[in-house]
Amino acid sequence: MRTFVLETGFGLDNLVLRERETPMPGPGQVLLEMRTASLNYRDLVVVAGGHGRAVRPPLVPLSDGVGIVVETGPGVRDLAVGDRVAPAFYQHWQGGAPPDDLEAGRLGGPLDGVLASHCVFPESGLVRVAEGLSNAEAATLPCAGVTAWSALSEPWPLRPGESVLIQGTGGVALMALALARRAGARTIVTTSSPIKAARLAGLGADLVIDRNATPDWARAVREATGGRGCERVLELGGAATLNESVKAVRTGGTILLIGNVTGSMAELFLPLVLTRRITLHSVSCGSRQAFQALMDALAAGGIRPVVDRVFPFEEAHEAFRTLEKGEHFGNICLSLSQDPSR
Ligand SMILES: NC(=O)c1ccc[n+]([C@@H]2O[C@H](COP(=O)([O-])OP(=O)(O)OC[C@H]3O[C@@H](n4cnc5c(N)ncnc54)[C@H](OP(=O)(O)O)[C@@H]3O)[C@@H](O)[C@H]2O)c1
Repeated sequence: MRTFVLETGFGLDNLVLRERETPMPGPGQVLLEMRTASLNYRDLVVVAGGHGRAVRPPLVPLSDGVGIVVETGPGVRDLAVGDRVAPAFYQHWQGGAPPDDLEAGRLGGPLDGVLASHCVFPESGLVRVAEGLSNAEAATLPCAGVTAWSALSEPWPLRPGESVLIQGTGGVALMALALARRAGARTIVTTSSPIKAARLAGLGADLVIDRNATPDWARAVREATGGRGCERVLELGGAATLNESVKAVRTGGTILLIGNVTGSMAELFLPLVLTRRITLHSVSCGSRQAFQALMDALAAGGIRPVVDRVFPFEEAHEAFRTLEKGEHFGNICLSLSQDPSR
């Protein structure tokens, strides 16, 4: 098998291609021949060495991928050779409350990820892929898709007619847009350029705000919501956007703390949160049960994850660099197959 691995240190220069012996599935495990991986912003942080002390080399990066079962270990009951599956981001969180050691079970750091031609997983960490999805589309789901799902399900499910503000056009944002539209919500999305704005309108966003042309976008959100603000904000920007989000959310509304693409240290004027009874609720991807619920929802049809482009395996470095530029729309994917037609 072949794999990319951060062998001796962090940084793209230390991401090297290696030939290794193909692993054997143990009891309760299956061997996957991998097809496609999808990159997340988190993977950039991991490769740069910014994901905390528990995540360190040697490490196979990337959490999100799809593969075909080619061998089953003893005691495997629910999966068979030929099944198309995707590993859950948290390998050890089946459902309910998160385990105390939640961070220890993350794929792509600290656990080895999917940037390889073959991977072994416990069958308890896998979800069967819905038939209508391509490999690339399905590969976007374990982290990006499940996070969008959780952000619209927690702390309570999105209700039809609610206004939802979504930041950006990355993997989490575009899946959230599709799911929110299907739930009957009114969608407001901020983005960075007229070209991306036009594409968002094409996807059915009710209101698109160019955050560069309108840096005080909370005002536009309030104007569009009769002065009240929106019920739910998916906070993906972090440090530079949180205060604008507080102004954009309605009294009694919820800000889902998800990402920090603009930085991790935010200064917040607390009275605006306290006096207006705003809920700050953090989202950490989701359990395997949440992943299964998302997959079931997509199996019903009508929603296709947005894939920006699929790089060949050999161009893994280029895929990371393209993600870093931030010009993408949806998810950047990587073929993991020896045969690019698969
Ligand atoms: N908590 C969790 O479980 C979880 C799970 C997944 C991701 N995340 C986090 O969520 C964030 C997004 O992840 P992703 O993988 O979807 O990222 P991504 O695909 O790289 O997309 C990031 C997008 O953020 C937007 N952006 C860039 N600068 C911005 C700014 N100044 N203000 C507002 N938006 C800005 C850009 O869209 P435009 O050009 O359209 O503005 C960019 O495409 C990251 O911080 C990631 O770590 C958290």
